[in-house]
Amino acid sequence: MTSQPKILSICNSKGGVGKSVVTMMVATALAEQKGKKVLIIDCDSQATAYETAEKEKQHYPDHEPLVDVEALSPRRVNTFLKRFGDDYDVIFIDIPRMTEKKADNPTVMLLYNCDGILVPVIGSDVDVLATQEFLAVIEECREFKAEMKEDFTAYGFINRRNQRKSNDDAETTIKKAGLKMFTNSLADLKIFTSPSVFQSPLQTAEGLRRFELFFKEFCRKYKV
Ligand SMILES: Nc1ncnc2c1ncn2[C@@H]1O[C@H](COP(=O)(O)OP(=O)(O)O)[C@@H](O)[C@H]1O
Ligand SMILES: [Mg+2]
Repeated sequence: MTSQPKILSICNSKGGVGKSVVTMMVATALAEQKGKKVLIIDCDSQATAYETAEKEKQHYPDHEPLVDVEALSPRRVNTFLKRFGDDYDVIFIDIPRMTEKKADNPTVMLLYNCDGILVPVIGSDVDVLATQEFLAVIEECREFKAEMKEDFTAYGFINRRNQRKSNDDAETTIKKAGLKMFTNSLADLKIFTSPSVFQSPLQTAEGLRRFELFFKEFCRKYKV
């Protein structure tokens, strides 16, 4: 039995930026490398994390997955956390893309549960615009946590970094808009096209080469 879990979310209002796959990569690495008990709460009706886990479990019925995955609608998350949250060291909430960003939106409210959030940023102009809008949600979260006198950590990182100048521009824009950015970014990696709950990216040669520094920075910054 552990004490209170750390609740984190890799989130952005935009879809297709890597929220679900990066969540799965970091979650499995925490379980495998650090022996953490990790849960992913999948609140997206697309259920990327949940479906992946279910499919894999059918393939390997005799194996234990590295992490647990629960599919829950945003409204049920608080009740679930009260009952089962303390069984875990780290809980990731995978949120759906958001069209509505008001503070009383159930998805936005999920972020108020979090001790930390990490925002994947894709270095294209449309994606940066969407991320800038999302920063207002993060600010509200930050204010709420300050009122509650609770710690709150928020960073962004460039996902699918390539050589294009738009990646550097995105980094500058987001920083100027007030979100601190990770030193390490993630490139387009083959391992991200087939996420797994049975294997951590650090058990693959590509992951060791191209994910480890990012993962170490994650652990340092979110104190896990
Ligand atoms: N760093 C990356 N390298 C390669 N493919 C990626 C990377 N990040 C995300 N993807 C791919 O992009 C798609 C969207 O990712 P996903 O995590 O489902 O996005 P979201 O949860 O934000 O909607 C997936 O097909 C995923 O494999
Ligand atoms: Mg997703």
